[in-house]
Amino acid sequence: MKEVVVKERDYRRADEAVKRAEELIRRGYQEKQVIRSVKKYLKGLKIPFSARDAYVAARLRIRGKEKFGKLSSKLFFDESGYRYSTPSVVAEYRAERLKDYEVADVSCGAGMQLCYFGFRRRAIGVEIEEKRAYLAALNILATESEATVYCGDAFNFKGGADVIFSDPARPESEVVRTLKSLQPNPLKIIERFNSMFVFELPPQMPPKRVDSSFPVKGEKEYTSLDFRLNRLAFYTGEIAECDTSAVSLPSKERVTSEDEKARIEKVKELELDTIAEVDRTITHSGLLENLAGKLGIEAYLLTLDTRRTLLQVKDIVPSAFLKYYNVLFSEKCGEACKKRLKEVNVGKVTLRFNVRPEEYWRVRRKFEEGLKGDRHVYMFKIGESYVVCEPAR
Ligand SMILES: C[S@@+](CC[C@H](N)C(=O)[O-])C[C@H]1O[C@@H](n2cnc3c(N)ncnc32)[C@H](O)[C@@H]1O
Repeated sequence: MKEVVVKERDYRRADEAVKRAEELIRRGYQEKQVIRSVKKYLKGLKIPFSARDAYVAARLRIRGKEKFGKLSSKLFFDESGYRYSTPSVVAEYRAERLKDYEVADVSCGAGMQLCYFGFRRRAIGVEIEEKRAYLAALNILATESEATVYCGDAFNFKGGADVIFSDPARPESEVVRTLKSLQPNPLKIIERFNSMFVFELPPQMPPKRVDSSFPVKGEKEYTSLDFRLNRLAFYTGEIAECDTSAVSLPSKERVTSEDEKARIEKVKELELDTIAEVDRTITHSGLLENLAGKLGIEAYLLTLDTRRTLLQVKDIVPSAFLKYYNVLFSEKCGEACKKRLKEVNVGKVTLRFNVRPEEYWRVRRKFEEGLKGDRHVYMFKIGESYVVCEPAR
């Protein structure tokens, strides 16, 4: 298997080409003009990086600010490498969790997670697609990471490490997410290597499906990024700390199946003045009662479905997994609801109940029609009632 080596001089020229392309895109130049004008920077380059690659990488640097923060202005991506790359805040968290181990990332893509492993200690990456392996090598130089990348098939990797990490490629969408469609296949990776493993799996897989898919036990860690289910990591061996866990990023608040549960009873009617919307990461991982126990909250279940879980709560105990709202009023009839929205001086109504996306604005405008106030409210549906709330500060 070949180590991918990029000379400092080639890295500098590729970077110059991307910077120039970025400048031209920002000034409104079209693709063809940009490609034509950055070709000169890449003459005699000894790596597979064309003027079109520089154009694509420049567009992704512009787009990548949210995903990679300040780092984005240095990075090299192709479209697919970017789409499946690990956001900085997740990569940093994963590297921190594995900081005591030497890691080989055997499907490293354009190398974002690999770079973060390499910020802490030496790490090895393997990528089957040559162009992408070079992007990983460029990213290692750009971020001054202590990583090395090889181009080849994960199954031909002869080196060893404490942990074999793999974030496999997956189809964009599937009716039911399973291990079958993942490349490289995690089950085959387990057969091939003798070490501990960490796999990034499709987060849509519930804990039971993960357990029944693997011949080994492990921790299923669901990651929420900004209140959205973002990742699922499966840890084996001594790295596994519990059966199931959920972590919210960027705060790093964590709840696990070891946290003592508090019972949450289902109620039909809204009786309290405060409701809490639960991050789906918690319900999907089956950790709702563990969260209530950990926070020590008295909570009652109002609604639970695949899209939204609402609790009514006695007190506000801050948690990144809960968004609290003060209830202004609740009404069964839409017309009565509109009247009261006017009375309490509302201007904007964000709908927080299930409406088909193509219907959203029509329904919202129906409620907002004639409103001139300055309050922005959130409208939930509990049973037959519209429940109008403001975020609790
Ligand atoms: C989801 S991406 C990895 C993204 C990466 N974790 C990051 O943060 O940028 C998966 C990568 O696995 C690579 N891959 C698929 N099968 C492989 C194999 N058998 N050996 C090595 N790499 C493979 C794909 O080409 C793809 O680039």
